[in-house]
Amino acid sequence: MKTIVFAASKGGVGKTTLCAALSAFASAKSKKKVAVIDLDPQGSLTSWWNSREAESPELIEASAASLQEKLSQAEAAGYAYAFVDTPPGHMKTIETAITCADYVLVPCQPSPVDIAAIGDTLAVIEDQGKPFAFVMNRVISRTRIGEQAILLLANHGKVAGIPIAQRTAFATAMTDGRSAPEVDGGKQATEEIAALWKFVSSNLKK
Ligand SMILES: Nc1ncnc2c1ncn2[C@@H]1O[C@H](COP(=O)(O)OP(=O)(O)O)[C@@H](O)[C@H]1O
Ligand SMILES: [Mg+2]
Repeated sequence: MKTIVFAASKGGVGKTTLCAALSAFASAKSKKKVAVIDLDPQGSLTSWWNSREAESPELIEASAASLQEKLSQAEAAGYAYAFVDTPPGHMKTIETAITCADYVLVPCQPSPVDIAAIGDTLAVIEDQGKPFAFVMNRVISRTRIGEQAILLLANHGKVAGIPIAQRTAFATAMTDGRSAPEVDGGKQATEEIAALWKFVSSNLKK
C-alpha cells in the first residue's frame, strides 16, 4: 500500500479539497481499494465523506497516535492507496503523518506569502528524506503570478502535474461529497486532477 500525505502548515491552501479530489479520482482510475484518513480535528474531509454517495474511497478513522497501526491494518485489508489529510498548524501531527508517507504533496497558492510559509513543512519533509512535490493550487488563469510562483517553488523541489486553477467546481464539490471531476462543468478540473494523479502514481513506482 502507498500512503500519500497532504501537508502544509498553512490553512486554506487546498489540502482537504485536493485530498478529496485525488482520492476519488485514484479510486475510480485504479479500481483498487482506496482509503482516506482525516487527521484534522475540524473534520472537513470527514464531513465531505459523510455526505458522499459513492462508495469509494472509504474513510478509515485514525488519530496521529493510531495512524501507523491503522495504516498497517489497511494494508493487510488490501487497500492499495491511503490518502491522509492533515490539520494546519499542528506540526506534531503533520510530522507524524509525514513519517508514515510514501509521498508528500504540499499544496501551495501562488502568492509570496504562501510560498514564504512552506519552510517549516519543507524542513520536516527534508529531515525525514521523504519524496515530495508541490501542487500549485488556486491559480487564477491569465495571471503571471502563477508562472512566477512555479519558478520560485521549483528552486525548492518538484512541482506536480499542471497548475490547478481557482474553479467553482472544486468548492462546490466539497459541499456535497463529490470531487471536482464529478461535478457538472468539472472537465478542466478533471484534467488537472488527472495530471496530478499521473504524476503521483508514476513517482510512487520509482
Ligand atoms: N482550486 C480551487 N478552486 C476553488 N476553490 C478552492 C480550490 N482549492 C481550494 N478551494 C477552496 O479554498 C478553501 C480552502 O481549501 P481547503 O481544501 O479547505 O484548504 P486546507 O485544507 O489546506 O485548509 C475551501 O473553501 C475550498 O473550497
Ligand atoms: Mg483542511
